[in-house]
Amino acid sequence: MNKATVSGQASKTSTFMGEDIPQAVRDTSEKVSTVQGSKSVKWIVIALIAGTVALVAGVLVAWQGGMLGLLNNSQVAQTEQTDSPDPNATVDPTAPKTETLLGHFPYKEAPREDLQPISSDGRILMRQAAARAFLEMKEAARSQGVSLVPISGFRSEEDQKYLFFEVKAQRGQVTTERAEVSAPPGYSEHHTGYAVDIGDANLPATDLSPSFENTPAFQWMKENAAYYSFEVSFPKGNTQGVTYEPWHWRFVGDRDSLETFYKARNPQKNIETQP
Ligand code: DAL
Ligand code: ZN
Repeated sequence: MNKATVSGQASKTSTFMGEDIPQAVRDTSEKVSTVQGSKSVKWIVIALIAGTVALVAGVLVAWQGGMLGLLNNSQVAQTEQTDSPDPNATVDPTAPKTETLLGHFPYKEAPREDLQPISSDGRILMRQAAARAFLEMKEAARSQGVSLVPISGFRSEEDQKYLFFEVKAQRGQVTTERAEVSAPPGYSEHHTGYAVDIGDANLPATDLSPSFENTPAFQWMKENAAYYSFEVSFPKGNTQGVTYEPWHWRFVGDRDSLETFYKARNPQKNIETQP
């Protein structure tokens, strides 16, 4: 602070107040030399403030106009940039939806080395984790007097090709009709090695029939399957349009099986409407 430019009073005051007045205020008082000068400066300051306010107001109006334009442009850009993923999104909304065929989702065949038998003749196979859970569940049911029997497990695309096209031809079914009860090759849950068709060993006439739901096997499954991470894939009224299949169950008890059946169905929500 230049003390020579202030009045004696002000100088004393300045000296007295020096320690308490913030530096910014002290710097302002440096420009005051006399009382008259102080008044003139006041008017200059007022004029400057008024000018600044007017300038700021003008800039604001211009900026608002510009921003509105920019906002509109950015909205257009946002609409147009739906192909660019949001890097903060946990799910990429632009990821392609899984393509279904006649209501069925595509599935890859399980690696052969990960398959193991679940039937006594060794012909019906499931993925190891699913097989272990199935056999444990079968044993638990048996201990309660219920006989679960596997009818079909892993199926290759070749197997499914026969079931879809050959059986369709034998029965004279149209494509959509066939798809209500059978998945096209490449689209069956049975390819994954996680799906199993279950029957009641004491009631073979109900095998692969809606009447299976009246068997002790189905009743037991309904109450207990979740303990072994099995769920019905095609319940009544499922959104895939597949006929009710109380005998067809899928394993969802580990990350791979869960992702296989849920994750890829609708990337936008991670879970598509489930049966
Ligand atoms: N029956 C079920 C839909 C399949 O063929 O995979
Ligand atoms: Zn099945």
